[in-house]
Amino acid sequence: MRVHVADHPLIAHKLTALRDETTDSPTFRRLADELVTLLAYEATRDVRVQPVEVRTPVGPATGVRLSQPKPLVVPILRAGLGMLDGMVRLLPTAEVGFLGMVRDESTLKATTYANRLPDDLSGRQCYLLDPMLATGGTLAAAIHFLVDLGADDITAITLLSAPEGVARLESELAGLDVPVSVVTAAMDERLNEHGYIVPGLGDAGDRLYGVV
Ligand code: URA
Repeated sequence: MRVHVADHPLIAHKLTALRDETTDSPTFRRLADELVTLLAYEATRDVRVQPVEVRTPVGPATGVRLSQPKPLVVPILRAGLGMLDGMVRLLPTAEVGFLGMVRDESTLKATTYANRLPDDLSGRQCYLLDPMLATGGTLAAAIHFLVDLGADDITAITLLSAPEGVARLESELAGLDVPVSVVTAAMDERLNEHGYIVPGLGDAGDRLYGVV
């Protein structure tokens, strides 16, 4: 598994404001949106393209366009929804599927409660959106879900990651012959006893949408 920490001063600047507990929800949503677009630029470095020819006003030129089948963007509900607009801004022709996963706060185990994905993901490049790679349970379950449907290349985009989550993904995905990458804005210190990322930013879903 490849892990890429996007090390860029603009990303660090926006992330700092995102972490700040005094940042209100509207500002948090805007910052998350902007951050995802910057991360999407890194995450799509290996998006598949095919050669095309165009005519400029001066003459013929060769270039590329995104290959078929279209990439699939999959926000993990609920907090991943806050990353969708920022992602499709950069990849407007992508299709969007939805995966609802909830983490039991006592066992920290992830279960699937909603699935709106194509039945067959053969040959598809998939981009999973989940702001927090904490214990890794949700992302590991989501990645297995996509692989079982045939996905053959998966990139997870997260705002923050914890070393424990990365280690769990590495061990749970060890036998997989599908390439998996994680692109994240920062690798934080650790998880606390409640499974929250430290220093983190708190509960991403609550900060995006309020406590429900
Ligand atoms: N989910 C969150 O929203 N925040 C964390 O710190 C960990 C998991």
